[in-house]
Amino acid sequence: MEKIRFLTGERPTGRLHIGHFAGALQSRVEMQNTGKYEPFIMVADMQALTDNADNPQKIKENVFEVVLDNLAVGIDPAVSTIFIQSQVPELTELTTFYMNLVTLARLERNPTVKSELKTKDFKNNIPVGFLTYPISQAADITAFDATVVPCGEDQLPMIEQTREIVRTFNRLYGETLVEPDAILPDNKHARRVPGTDGNFKMSKSLNNCIYLADEPDVIKSKIMSMYTDPNHIRVEDKGDTKNNPVFIYLDIFGKDKAKIKELKEHYERGGLGDVVVKKYLNEVMQEFLEPIRENRKYYAEHMDAVYKIVEDGCKRARSIAQATLKRVRDAVGVNYFETIKNLKK
Ligand code: TRP
Repeated sequence: MEKIRFLTGERPTGRLHIGHFAGALQSRVEMQNTGKYEPFIMVADMQALTDNADNPQKIKENVFEVVLDNLAVGIDPAVSTIFIQSQVPELTELTTFYMNLVTLARLERNPTVKSELKTKDFKNNIPVGFLTYPISQAADITAFDATVVPCGEDQLPMIEQTREIVRTFNRLYGETLVEPDAILPDNKHARRVPGTDGNFKMSKSLNNCIYLADEPDVIKSKIMSMYTDPNHIRVEDKGDTKNNPVFIYLDIFGKDKAKIKELKEHYERGGLGDVVVKKYLNEVMQEFLEPIRENRKYYAEHMDAVYKIVEDGCKRARSIAQATLKRVRDAVGVNYFETIKNLKK
């Protein structure tokens, strides 16, 4: 049976955290392990540079951190291709072709870009590269003829833009590119993990993350100081479990569903203190993160092997992107000398 190719990845702006795990890493590993897919995992360093042009060192430092995080959670280099975006320059040329198929107004309407613009404070100095990153993301996906993109909800606008680009391209130049579908994680909680501070999103810039590489004492202190229900002041008070990150994490990472249900009921009734719940969450998270941290350490002690994995991945990714680029150039007709040679034959 032919395998279904998927492409996914993240920007190397920091180490990956439990929000990345629930929103993206878990489902990509599960998909890999079904044996039905041919996974491509891309470290999106070029995309990371679109809003970090003044700090390339940060990106450089994190490329292999992100690789290690992927390996630690179970990405198997024998099955999956791990590569770095900048090492496949064909993606840039594809982006240039696609840029002509997208309007400025359409880019400005992209909801994910819009909300990022709000938090980034570019004012009137938005880098062109940043505004156009959804186009380069379309190149990432189509270069590999990926039919599915496992991702979080925030990436849906990118997939939609990719589909539009594919349709426009195929209409103008003939059937050339493949339209991808997004695959979201199925547990609805797992799509977005709030921060330890109760913020809507776990994010490095908000300093509210639990990292996959965090040591046990760090995990514990982060959990014990987590935000809970601000109206749950005394133990006897009735508490809210719905907008309470402690319970949201339990739902996502806890295995003992019966126990969690009981804790929730007790908390909602009143009479259950935050410290008790946090201690239990700490147990749950320690158990979950320990094997990941150990795997990560193993790979970090064998960096030569990791470099080889990624170097091979880049080569393989590049040869596939080259073939797609050839198809695209042929479709648009910018293959002058080949055409001349063919005429002479
Ligand atoms: N936009 C993704 C992020 O912010 C990274 C990314 C770049 C990506 N190209 C992609 C994800 C292609 C999925 C498919 O993390």
